[in-house]
Amino acid sequence: MGSLLPTSCSLLPLNLYDSLSDLPHFNPDLEGTELPSVKDFRTQLQISGGVLISTPEYAHGIPGVLKNALDWVVGSGERYRKPVALFNASPRAIHAQASLKEILQTMDARIINEASITVLLPSNQIDENDIVSHSETSSVLHNAIVTFVSAI
Ligand SMILES: Cc1cc2nc3c(=O)[nH]c(=O)nc-3n(C[C@H](O)[C@H](O)[C@H](O)COP(=O)(O)O)c2cc1C
Repeated sequence: MGSLLPTSCSLLPLNLYDSLSDLPHFNPDLEGTELPSVKDFRTQLQISGGVLISTPEYAHGIPGVLKNALDWVVGSGERYRKPVALFNASPRAIHAQASLKEILQTMDARIINEASITVLLPSNQIDENDIVSHSETSSVLHNAIVTFVSAI
C-alpha cells in the first residue's frame, strides 16, 4: 500500500499486526497473569497513534478472532480515545461494520467517521497493485488515509 501513502504520511510508520491468532481465548480470570502474546498486543496498541481495522464479515458478524482480541483490551484501557478508522472492502458486509462500530464505541474508541470508508473492489481476483492502479478506489483510500493521519 506504499504508493497510496502521500508524502506527508511517509514519516508515520504503518505496522501490520498479524498475530491475532496467537491470542488465547479471552478470560477475565487471567487478568494479571496474561501470556506474552496478550502483553505484546496491548503494548502495540498502547504505542500506536491510531488503529486501522479492515475485517471480513462472516455469518453477519465480525470474525471471532477479532472480537477475542478486542475483548482482551476492554478492561486494560489501551484503546481509550484512540483514533480508529474502519476500511470495509465489501458494501454488502453491513452487519460486521455496524457491530464493530458498536463494540468500539462501547470501548470508548474514537471512531473517525470521515476516515472510515466502504469500497467496492474492482474484481474478486485482485492484489494490492490492482487496487493502487484503480484510480477511483485508490483515490478513496488515499483521501481516507490522509484524513486519518490528520486525526491522529
Ligand atoms: C463461512 C463464510 C461466511 C461468510 N459470511 C459472510 C457474510 O455474512 N456477509 C458477507 O458480506 N460476506 C460473507 N462471507 C464472505 C467473506 O466475508 C469474504 O468476502 C470472502 O471470504 C472472500 O474473502 P477474500 O476476498 O479475503 O478471499 C463469508 C465467507 C465465508 C467463508
